[in-house]
Amino acid sequence: MRERIIAGNWKMNKTVPEALELIETIKYELSRDDYKIVVCPPFTALYSVGGAVSGTPIALGAQNVFWEDRGAFTGEISPVMLADLGVEFVIVGHSERRRYFGETDEMINRKVRAVLAHKMRPILCVGETLEQREAGKTIDVVTHQLREALKGVSESEAKRLVIAYEPVWAIGTGRTATPLQAQAAHAFIREELNLMFGKEVGDQIPILYGGSVKPDNVADLTGMPDVDGALVGGASLKAESFIGIIENAQ
Ligand code: 13P
Repeated sequence: MRERIIAGNWKMNKTVPEALELIETIKYELSRDDYKIVVCPPFTALYSVGGAVSGTPIALGAQNVFWEDRGAFTGEISPVMLADLGVEFVIVGHSERRRYFGETDEMINRKVRAVLAHKMRPILCVGETLEQREAGKTIDVVTHQLREALKGVSESEAKRLVIAYEPVWAIGTGRTATPLQAQAAHAFIREELNLMFGKEVGDQIPILYGGSVKPDNVADLTGMPDVDGALVGGASLKAESFIGIIENAQ
């Protein structure tokens, strides 16, 4: 059975007190164990949220990382620092980072490899823009992103990968991919992973859907055979909606 995961990407939200308030509620209302639950607070709240989830089934995730271990890289956070805080998952290559901070496929590949080298698990985000989808380029774009980001990743490292398919046009827009659109993209990503790492490994890599996931659409999405969970933005910022998503997931 493939692992199932629901991850909350808090993006640039929550002070430390706000983060603690949210995690305390989530932690006490968590009711199922067939999904792995991951929360990804901003860097400034990682230490406190890490303390709050320690000893619970909730895993700690970060939203970004730099690839060097240490050095003169003002403003960056290294994989060593994240691992030291008990971070298990790191979101890499989110479309907001590609778009606003100029992250290239080459940078994303370095980050993926750094996360794996430090025994953490990357949540690699891929996805097309509306313009690319309308031009019929979805498959080309996603293939390219996957191949470039996963260059040099070994079969044994690939067992720790998580992929998130996040169509850019569905992020924060209230516009969700239909379950069939999501399934088509996920099935195609699965084929690529099977080509890269062999079927045995590829079949076990969880592929999450991200983009306006809410309590009322999560069941249909996670009911699709290749949708193994969700990467949730806006709806992960309130305990009620995040718990709602966890409870309604198939
Ligand atoms: P929304 O759920 O707010 O659309 O964000 C999705 C996302 O970007 C998760 O990484």
